Formats: sequence, structure tokens, C-alpha cells
Amino acid sequence: MQIIHTISELRTALKQQPKIGFVPTMGNLHAGHIHLVEIAKQNASCVVVSIFVNPLQFGANEDFGSYPRTLEADCEKLKAAGADIVFAPNVSEMYPQVTENKSNGKNLNQSMTITPPPIASELCGASRPGHFAGVATVVMKLFNMVQPQIAVFGKKDFQQLFIIKEMVKQFNLPIQIIAGETMREASGLAMSSRNGYLNEAQRTQSAQLNAALQHIAQQLKNGHQDFTSLEKTAAQQLNQNHWEVDYISIRSANTLQPAQAGDKQLVVLGAAKISNNLGGKTRLIDNLEVHI
Ligand code: PAJ
Repeated sequence: MQIIHTISELRTALKQQPKIGFVPTMGNLHAGHIHLVEIAKQNASCVVVSIFVNPLQFGANEDFGSYPRTLEADCEKLKAAGADIVFAPNVSEMYPQVTENKSNGKNLNQSMTITPPPIASELCGASRPGHFAGVATVVMKLFNMVQPQIAVFGKKDFQQLFIIKEMVKQFNLPIQIIAGETMREASGLAMSSRNGYLNEAQRTQSAQLNAALQHIAQQLKNGHQDFTSLEKTAAQQLNQNHWEVDYISIRSANTLQPAQAGDKQLVVLGAAKISNNLGGKTRLIDNLEVHI
């Protein structure tokens, strides 16, 4: 397995590869990421995994600074999983026009960006303005660097997956997007790098988010169609259990628009904050597809 930090080395390494499979990540890898690498291996002859904590997709008050960076351990996991290339660029490789500003921060100066579709302002986009523009822009850059035939994204970030598929369609990119199922702890908690901010008790509590989505899924399967009341009840219960709910939303799995009576392919999505081990709050997301 090669570990590469520059675009020019990456291009040289990929020159003669007939079928490239790509898994973009921000590192701190867990079994959810490795599942995507396995899917890529089954569908390509050369698997590239990128590790880059992308400043463009973090809001000013979010956890860009504290996001866990564990390159060495990540590379060991990727080697064991059979990845061929790890691409771990630094900020100035990804954003060559970056400048330092006076307060010791960075201006990325990425004045050209991908404008995501309107759905990017709903759900996670409502409380994270600019997030999906940052995601779409970095993924477009990574696609241009790696030029894969296939790319694998997790359903854990259902809205992100939807927006990336839309970008590929609308920009006619010759890339097949494959979706990987969400990997979970035994408690039902979706694996996430941000679970590392939680202590044992908080992790136990955090399984309640998935439980709430499961409960709604069951009600939908039982024929309940009052989506608003299902959403409200679940949110109220979580809030009573010391969560700070951002949204609980029942949507069409195909369009991500609010569910309509009679829709058969649904997805229940949730985002909520829970107290963490650092004296602050950690925002967790999860979703469940429900076919009725
Ligand atoms: P990151 O959060 O590291 O996730 C990388 C990929 O792993 C995404 O496709 C995500 O959906 C998937 N993933 C995360 N947790 C998962 C789980 N429990 N089961 C299955 N897949 C899971 O998503 C990003 O990074 C970034 O936004 C990125 C696309 C790399 C752009 O910066």
C-alpha cells in the first residue's frame, strides 16, 4: 500500500490503472469506513482512500480543530483491508490558493465552489449553512485528482450521498456511485468518528437516537401516516431525555422531499446533540430506510 501526499505523485501512481475505486474520508477510520473499502475492492482493481479533514465543510463554531487526526492508525487499518493507495494531502495541496490571515487562521480563497441543489439547505444544511457546498466542492476536487470509475459513499450520511449522486448526474461525471450500508455498534448506535467525543455513559445514551428512528419505522410499517405527529413525538421524547434535537424528519427516500401519504420508499432521518466528554455537545446523525 502506497501513502501519497501530493497530487502529482497520485497521478503517476494511477496512470496505468484500468479500474479505480475511490473512498473519500476524513480519517479516524472505523468499521463503517472499512466496509466501504471492501465494497470498492469488490468493484475495482485499484482502491484509493483519501484522508483529508476538509476545512471548507466546517462552520466557524464546529469541530474542525478538534476533529481526530489519526493517520498512522488509519493506514494500518487500510493496509489490513487491502487498500492500494492512501491519499492524504495537506490543506495547501487541496487549496493551493490558501493564505494565512492575521489571526493565525487560514483563508482558503476557494472562490469557485459547487452550488448544491436546494435540498442542501434543509435537514443538516439548515443548521450547517455552507456545509454541503464545502462537501460537494472537495469531492469534486478529489474526483478530478483520483479520476475513479467508481466511488463509494455511506448511507450513514444519507443527505450527503443524495447530493453527491445529484452532482454526478448534473455534471455528467463518468463515475458510478455505490452506497454502503450503515455500520453500527451492537447498541444500534451508528459508528462515527464523533462517537470518540463520548464517554461510556454518553455512548449508552446515544443509542436512543437510533431507537427513536426504529420506533418511527415500526409505526410507519404499522400503517401510521401522520408523519408530523410521529416526528414531533419522537423529538419531544429525545428532548425529555436530555437530547437537543435538531430535526427528526420522515422523507421520501428517492427525492428527500417531505413524505407524502402513499409514499412507499421512506427514510427517517434524525440529528441531535448530546452532552460530550469535553464539557460541550456532540451532534450525532442517523437515518433508517423504511419500505412499506
Ligand atoms: P467521513 O465522515 O470520514 O465519512 C467518509 C465516508 O464514510 C462517508 O461516505 C460516510 O457516509 C461513510 N461512513 C461514516 N460512518 C459510517 C458508518 N457508520 N457506516 C457506513 N459508512 C459510514 O463524509 C465525509 O467523511 C466527508 O464529508 C467527505 C465525503 C470525505 C468529504 O470531505
